[in-house]
Amino acid sequence: MHRVVQISDTHLSPIKQHFACNWEPLTSWLSAQRPDLVIHTGDVTVDGADIAADFSHCSDLLDTLGVPVLSIPGNHDVGEAYHPHQPVNDERLARWREHIGEDFWVHDLENWRLIGLNSMLFGSDETEEQRQLAWLDRQIAEAQGRRLGWFLHRPLFIESPDEGDKGYWSVPPRPRAHLLDLVRRNDVAFVASGHLHRAHDFAVDGTRYIWGPSCGFVVGSEMQPGMAGSATLGAVTYGFEGRDYTAQVHEISALKTLWIDDVIHEVYPSPVA
Ligand SMILES: [Fe+2]
Ligand SMILES: [Fe+2]
Repeated sequence: MHRVVQISDTHLSPIKQHFACNWEPLTSWLSAQRPDLVIHTGDVTVDGADIAADFSHCSDLLDTLGVPVLSIPGNHDVGEAYHPHQPVNDERLARWREHIGEDFWVHDLENWRLIGLNSMLFGSDETEEQRQLAWLDRQIAEAQGRRLGWFLHRPLFIESPDEGDKGYWSVPPRPRAHLLDLVRRNDVAFVASGHLHRAHDFAVDGTRYIWGPSCGFVVGSEMQPGMAGSATLGAVTYGFEGRDYTAQVHEISALKTLWIDDVIHEVYPSPVA
């Protein structure tokens, strides 16, 4: 069996150490899992989108895990489409690639093709958006019968595939429609995401959607009113055996329950207009 652990939303920085206390207990828990591969589904850094030191710090930390790590960027790592202060762009993507690695990638097992996607490009109209989509088409076409599992930072949707624009929380409707069409037409067994800092596991039209919880902090209900899933800290374990797989969300009790609401004015102050 091939063991993969998904971690997410560590939000680490050498400057803003608000969530640093959860790294050590996470690494202890991880080593006990003996994974063959760790996948980080983004927001690795507090603010890699603007601060290179966050990346070198996080790259060093990921190296200490002693297992292969594949990461995909979150909004705090490479910026967001059409963001007034931190738009995703070539400069930010280059910084991610320099320190962390490819921002979209494929990882093959005997019967599985795991695909990491840079969800921050969706709806950005950056040149890289089309390059990634063309690459994704090729990865699907050349999967040679392997089943597919997708990993991305922003979930494709929150409640239902045909919902309207959920703003900050998910992929916008226009790029989402194309991606869901690919999911429906191919054997995408699961779509795993981060970003929400919530744990959830549900299925729509035969595809499983797994919200990987954060390993750093949780978000208060004022910012996520009525949202599904649970505000717990943890990780997701996957086991791939033949064409079967298991996925299980774990709450990691050794992680300290930190709420972003208590420190957001320090960690992510609103830019002065
Ligand atoms: Fe996050
Ligand atoms: Fe995020």
